[in-house]
Amino acid sequence: MNQIDRLRKTAAQYGQEHLFQYWESLSDDQRSVLLDDIERIDFATLAKLVADQDTGAMSVDESKIEAPPVYPQCAGDEHAQLYASATRLGETMLADGKVGAMVVAGGQGTRLGFDAPKGTFPISPLRHKTLFQLFAENILNLNRTYGCKMPWYIMTSSATDAPTRTFFDENDYFGLDRADVFFFEQGVMPAVDDDGKIILCQPHRVAISPNGHGGSLLAMRDKGVLEDAARRGVEVISYFQVDNPLVSPADPLFIGLHANSQSQMSSIAVPKADDLEKVGNFVSLDGKVQVIEYSDLPDELAHARNPDGSRKLNAGSVAIHLIDRAYVESLTGDGELSLPWHRARKKVEYFDLATSSTVEPVAPNATKFEMFIFDAIPLATQSIVLEQPREECFSPVKNAEGVDSAATARRDMVRRAASWLEQCSVEVPRDTVGEPQAIIEISPLRAISAGQLKQSMTGALKINPEEKLYLE
Ligand code: UTP
Repeated sequence: MNQIDRLRKTAAQYGQEHLFQYWESLSDDQRSVLLDDIERIDFATLAKLVADQDTGAMSVDESKIEAPPVYPQCAGDEHAQLYASATRLGETMLADGKVGAMVVAGGQGTRLGFDAPKGTFPISPLRHKTLFQLFAENILNLNRTYGCKMPWYIMTSSATDAPTRTFFDENDYFGLDRADVFFFEQGVMPAVDDDGKIILCQPHRVAISPNGHGGSLLAMRDKGVLEDAARRGVEVISYFQVDNPLVSPADPLFIGLHANSQSQMSSIAVPKADDLEKVGNFVSLDGKVQVIEYSDLPDELAHARNPDGSRKLNAGSVAIHLIDRAYVESLTGDGELSLPWHRARKKVEYFDLATSSTVEPVAPNATKFEMFIFDAIPLATQSIVLEQPREECFSPVKNAEGVDSAATARRDMVRRAASWLEQCSVEVPRDTVGEPQAIIEISPLRAISAGQLKQSMTGALKINPEEKLYLE
């Protein structure tokens, strides 16, 4: 059977034959684009999702939810020895090439409203370096520091793949060896209307969108990441998201604790800013660590207090994980990944036959399906959480303005740079509310921690208010 007949038959079998309704009017090129779109649809999974009215929201038995064990950010006497030996182990693993970095950069970035892939967004306060450049320079620093050649796996989607590759080409891979940068495209899921019919956004285009950051696990298998990592001897994948300019692509302490405790998937947490902060919450349920989305966390639990008045569930997820390669292999071994699907009501453009045009709906008209990476945590036999100071590791660029925007991320980059300098005994002028008065940017090529900055400081440094200081 040829491809057209095969796909027509499959579509009809799943009640989606309307995908071919404009076939006769399409040019040859358009037909081939449509066939490519349809070829990517997992009809069987979609049919199950459409039939299943489960909203994907987690139902929580409040009485069973506990705070998870969390390694504290400050070692203290109790953890000092463990943290010192874990850091040494992490450094050895980095030096031995056992760690690879992976960024998920396939999202649509609708809230930011930036036309190009989010990784190409200029973010650093003075040099306007893009998110991708900052990560690349972090990795170059790690390679230099540990004498390794860390592979960097970059997950894209159909919308971001070509422009991301071009961007790296045009920028000469920011000094990284091309052979160590591996792009791979994630899977897709189509959007459906209220009758469960797949939406066509043009006569020859299916409304498909990336299948969520959880889709990275299956894509790692399908697109050769696991194979590449195995060939290089990489045992642990350091996972982060493209929108966080403060992230460190590999932290020796975190890596060492992960390996020491034989964790299969570990997470960084930050103390929550307030009870109802819109971040995932780490909890322990039946002895397993897992993340409950803020939208699924009952208010009572969000506000719950310990006897000393501190917040009971205080560990917020910042989407930084270490994931064992062997764990991803075991989760995806048979080509299936059994993470739950989350559904979201969204506005999705559709093609209107009556007007022969694509319509932008004013209200949500469709359901989209996504998998989330943190749903893999409770499937692990062992999983640890390490708390880190928010100001050191997390300031995401999500929105065009307001909270979690480019402005707040730049502010936080300057704050962190000022704090690192102060830890090096450099005086930073501050205004009456404590904000640095100078704009300071530290290149990741110079330092990726306060300790490293200290080692690089040669003479005295005087900073004037209003100064623009770039440390390279
Ligand atoms: P977000 O949940 O912030 O989604 O993604 P988004 O698509 O980037 O932005 P909005 O919601 O449309 O404004 C968090 C991280 O997960 C990646 C994103 O690129 C970002 O790094 N992601 C998300 C993927 O790689 N693939 C997806 O399917 C979804």
